[in-house]
Amino acid sequence: MTAAPVFDKGLANTIAAETQCSFIDGAKGILEYVGYDIDALARNASFEETVFLLWERRLPTRTELAELERSIRAEYDLPPAVWQMIREMPRTAHPMHMLRTVVSALGVHDPEADDNTVEANRRKSIRMLAKAPTIVANFDRHRKGKPFVKPDPSLGLAANFLQMLNGGRSTDAVARALDVCLVLHADHGLNASTFAARVTISTLSDMYSAITTAIGTLKGPLHGGANEEVMHMLNEIGSIGNVEPYIMGRLSRKDRIMGFGHRVYKAYDPRAGYLKTFAQRIAADTGNQGLYEMSTRIEEVMRREVAAKGIYPNVDFYSATTYHSIGIDLDLFTCMFAISRISGWTAHCMEQLETNRLIRPMAEYVGPHGQEWVAIGDRR
Ligand code: ACO
Repeated sequence: MTAAPVFDKGLANTIAAETQCSFIDGAKGILEYVGYDIDALARNASFEETVFLLWERRLPTRTELAELERSIRAEYDLPPAVWQMIREMPRTAHPMHMLRTVVSALGVHDPEADDNTVEANRRKSIRMLAKAPTIVANFDRHRKGKPFVKPDPSLGLAANFLQMLNGGRSTDAVARALDVCLVLHADHGLNASTFAARVTISTLSDMYSAITTAIGTLKGPLHGGANEEVMHMLNEIGSIGNVEPYIMGRLSRKDRIMGFGHRVYKAYDPRAGYLKTFAQRIAADTGNQGLYEMSTRIEEVMRREVAAKGIYPNVDFYSATTYHSIGIDLDLFTCMFAISRISGWTAHCMEQLETNRLIRPMAEYVGPHGQEWVAIGDRR
């Protein structure tokens, strides 16, 4: 017997999948990937190690990690037609529109696109994860009229991205700052884009279609776009002296402060703690101390005014400062989120296929019934 359907707008109270990828306790401020606390991962794991964890649901040995790194690096480069496609992109295109379109095109050039075996899906996951940084960095070069920089397989994913973006080797500290941001954004339960990816793969479509769906879903300002908004706000505030009047003004008008609050976390977002330390270090190293000081001042005012409501900085607040300090343009911030989240999306798709059932909820019909047919000439 099937249970009576329940109307749950936004699905906020619906458990639609079982997962072993990540666990969230919003009241206590806990996030774990496969049972490992996010803070421990951010302090100790590389992004590639985190990818292995999400895909295999255990930490790699040294040999296994080296093998995964080797196979990711071997896939950094793009098919010639995809390089050409980036060359032909309008320079004004939003990077998320561009990324969604080019990731979709990768499927056209992959003979394995429709092979849904475990092995083929793993290879395609590696390809998308490895190629996304090449696509984003080189689109940024293209729109700025700079020549492409080919990926460098001697570098890890974060350092390789920065080298393509900037045309020169970044310091280890800067590469590690990006690496930490990638670890922190890799997975987060059944959020909207992960759900969208699982819906697509549950039809037995293909991994490229699922990740294209997910990128389109992440693009929305209610989901992945908040870190851009944080940077806009910091630019608008402009100086530390303006923090107090700006924040108090917004709060008195009941406007939201970007980078604060979370639907799930009512305690300090566990991803924000270590990132704050990192943002401080990297801001100091790159001469962006003013930005960091402005951020901590905002946090102080917010703590005084609204912490009692369970509103604390979320992951986007200090990732904005970090991305800016390492020289990533504001409109690439959501692409950075996508590059990282490809690991979680692909992990969830492969998990979905292990025990697949088509995801197909129902809608409550609220329109009219029993209408009389009217010939087209008689309609008004
Ligand atoms: N600034 C000021 N007040 C806030 C904020 C904020 N950022 N967030 C919530 N509040 C207040 C609300 O005004 C409300 O106050 P009231 O009870 O006096 O009316 C109370 O806190 C509860 O707000 P809700 O809307 O019920 O909280 P909800 O859980 O729906 O909101 C959300 C979560 C959407 C993330 C919200 O906090 C927000 O808009 N934050 C700013 C945008 C942002 O940073 N988003 C990124 C989230 S993290 C991520 O997606 C990776």
